[in-house]
This record gives sequence, C-alpha cells and structure tokens, in this order.
Amino acid sequence: GRVLLAYSGGLGTSRDAHLCMIADRAENTSCILAWLIEQGYEVVAFMADVGQEEDFEAARKKALAVGAKKFFLEDLKREFVTELIYPALQANCIYENVYLLGTSLARPVIARGMMAIADREGCDFVSHGCTGKGNDQVRFELAFYGLKPDIKVIAPWRIPEFYHRFAGRQALLAYAAEKQIPVQQTAAKPWSTDENLFHISYEAGILEDPDTTPPADMWKLTVDPRQAPETPQALTIEFAKGLPVKVTVPDENKVYTDGVEIFLALNALARKHGVGRIDIVENRFIGVKSRGCYESPGATILRAAHVDLEGLTLDRNVRALRDQFVTIELSKILYNGHWFTPEREFIVSAIPASQRTVNGLVRLELYKGNVIIKGRSSSEGLYDEKESSMDELGGFEPTDTTGFIQIESIRIKKWAQANIRKGQA
Ligand code: ARG
Ligand code: SIN
Repeated sequence: GRVLLAYSGGLGTSRDAHLCMIADRAENTSCILAWLIEQGYEVVAFMADVGQEEDFEAARKKALAVGAKKFFLEDLKREFVTELIYPALQANCIYENVYLLGTSLARPVIARGMMAIADREGCDFVSHGCTGKGNDQVRFELAFYGLKPDIKVIAPWRIPEFYHRFAGRQALLAYAAEKQIPVQQTAAKPWSTDENLFHISYEAGILEDPDTTPPADMWKLTVDPRQAPETPQALTIEFAKGLPVKVTVPDENKVYTDGVEIFLALNALARKHGVGRIDIVENRFIGVKSRGCYESPGATILRAAHVDLEGLTLDRNVRALRDQFVTIELSKILYNGHWFTPEREFIVSAIPASQRTVNGLVRLELYKGNVIIKGRSSSEGLYDEKESSMDELGGFEPTDTTGFIQIESIRIKKWAQANIRKGQA
C-alpha cells in the first residue's frame, strides 16, 4: 500500500508534534517513515507551510534520504487565515477562557491538504506522529474521515508493536542510527512545540509540572514584556463585517490591507511589545489535564480590538446569543477537531448575520505586554451619544424608567419578603 505521512522537518529545534520526551519531531516522523517502509509500505511525505519557522528544503532532503518516494510541501497560509482564523476571530473563539486555539485552527487545513494529495497520489493510507494522549490525533483523524471516509489511518504511537519497540528516547535514537537517519546536532529543548503564523505552543517535558515557571528563553515569538520599549506603539485597526481590512501604523507610516500581511505585521508589533503570552492548565478532549504555554501575538491584538468594536456596533441580544452559542460551541468544535461536521456548518452559518454591523475603527496602543484600547468609531449608528449621555435628556422620558424598575422589581421584592419571613434575610 501507499501511505501519505505527515512529515516534520524540525531540524535545528525541537519543533515537534509529538512525544518530546521520546524524540523531537524530526526523529519521530523520520523513524516512522523508516518503520513504515520496513512494514512494506511505499511512503509519500507531506509537509504544510502554515507560517511556521522551518527549513523546508532540509526536511525535503531528509525525507527523501530516509526513503520517501515523493515529498510534498503545500503552502496553506492563505486558506489558514481566511477559512479558519477569520471565522474564529469573528466569533471571538477562545477555549476555557484563555487559549486562542492556534494549534486547533491549523489542523483542518493541514488535513484537507493531506487528503487532496492522498487522492492525487493514490494513497489508501495516511500516517502521523501524534501521541496517543493528545488532541491532535483526534483532530487529524476526525478531519481525515470527514473528508475521505475510506482513508485508513496508521497511528504508530497507538500500535503496541511500535510503541513498545520505541519506548524511550534511546530506542528511537538507536533505530535512527541503524537506518542512517541524521539526528540533529543541537540539543532538543526540554518541551514540545507547535508553530504556525497564529501562534506557538509549548508543552510536555519540564512544563508538565504545572508549578514550574517556564524559563525566560523558552518564549520565542515575543520579548519579555519587562524588556519591551518604554514608548507605547500606536496603531489603528479597521474592521468590515468583523474582519480586519486595514491596519495603520502611524509612526511607521505603514498601512496593511492583505489578510496574511495584516497578521504578519501585527505579529511583528506584538512581538516587540511582549503581547500575547499565556500559561494555562487545560482539559484535553480525551479527558486529561495538560499544562500549556502559548504565544499568540497578532491574534491577541485582533481579538481585543474586535471584542471592543462589538461593544459599539453589535446589538445587545445578538451579542448575548452569539457569546452563548456561537463563541462557546465553535471554540469547542475547533478544540475537539469537529471542523468537518454538520454542526460546524450550522454554527458557522450564524456568523455573517452576527457581524453585519461590526464595521469601524479601533485605535489602540501596545505597551509592555498589554493591548490598551484608546478609542473606537463607527458609522453604524447603534450608539447614540445624546441617548447615552448622563448630562442630557433625550430618547426617552426619565419617568419611563421608573415604571421599568417597578415592573422589574416585582419578583425581586417577593423573593426578599419570603426570605425575611423565613428569617434568612
Ligand atoms: N494543547 C494545545 C492544543 O491541543 C496545543 C497542542 C500542541 N500540539 C503539538 N503537536 N505540539 O491545541
Ligand atoms: C500530541 O499528542 O502529539 C501533542 C499534544 C496534543 O495533540 O494535544
């Protein structure tokens, strides 16, 4: 049979999708590649460019040297931004109040890229190096099945013959030596990372103790907020239907309008000002808790600006419904790998109706790890300065509000009286 393998270059760093205690990413998928060949498969290697820092050429050479028949590198950055990041941003997606879902967001486009190549190359099988304890195995495989229901998955880290044989880093290194797989010279970092243009994640290794503070040199995409410039960075973000269409950086005389470029520009500004670091303990889909650190620089700015503009431009009840249903459900759908499902189609269909009025400008500053909103404007007209003013009569009569409070208080008074009767006041 022919297998399409999600290959990871990872030369030079510990950038990885896997058991970092066992192997870094390059060793992991290179060993899987060699092992699949040993099992009699013909292997095609696949890599996606989703904006991670990676030596793709070195990875290509390595995959072919280990024995891959072919190597595919797909640039998926634009579809990653427009098809995954955009709806997540419009819906203010966030997992367990903190995680902006950077890894989850990349999985559907990678899986789709893989299934397209699997079709073209006649691969009946697909393989990956995800561990048997994580979210990514679930996300990838559910996405594969949601696109190509007859695909057969080979998940070596869930095959006893494989995981017993390669238990421990030494076994994998010995196998790499036997198969003449070049192992990186630099020491692997004591944690596992996953990077794309939205974020980088750090987990496993020394981070598994939730009370271990990450070393200062772990953080890769942002400077330490304490070392960030003393002068705030001003910028303006314009939104149309809840999407960023123009970013202006006045003191650099720069304007960005392209979706991918807006992201890259905001990443660069956020990096300099230490914006977007988080450290959490989250609940994985399979039920175990996991400590993770993340940097989502540009995304943190965009989310703050978008949430702010919705205050000015979104109807109260639409907002409440959206927060309860779309935000929560879409975040769960993303985290749990349910992108290619009917419930995702259903939930996402509500986004345009919620964002029709989210048009306007947000002015903000980046300063030592913070995104500080300085002002916002919009021509949507849901906000009426005269109506909202504390200094003016306007819109409705103050006496109307007396009635409103009277009616609202009916059941509250009843509840209070009952409490007093029972002596529970
Ligand atoms: N815990 C995060 C998530 O589930 C990050 C996963 C990182 N994945 C990886 N292969 N290193 O989305
Ligand atoms: C992995 O298990 O391969 C990485 C962690 C995760 O997917 O949650």
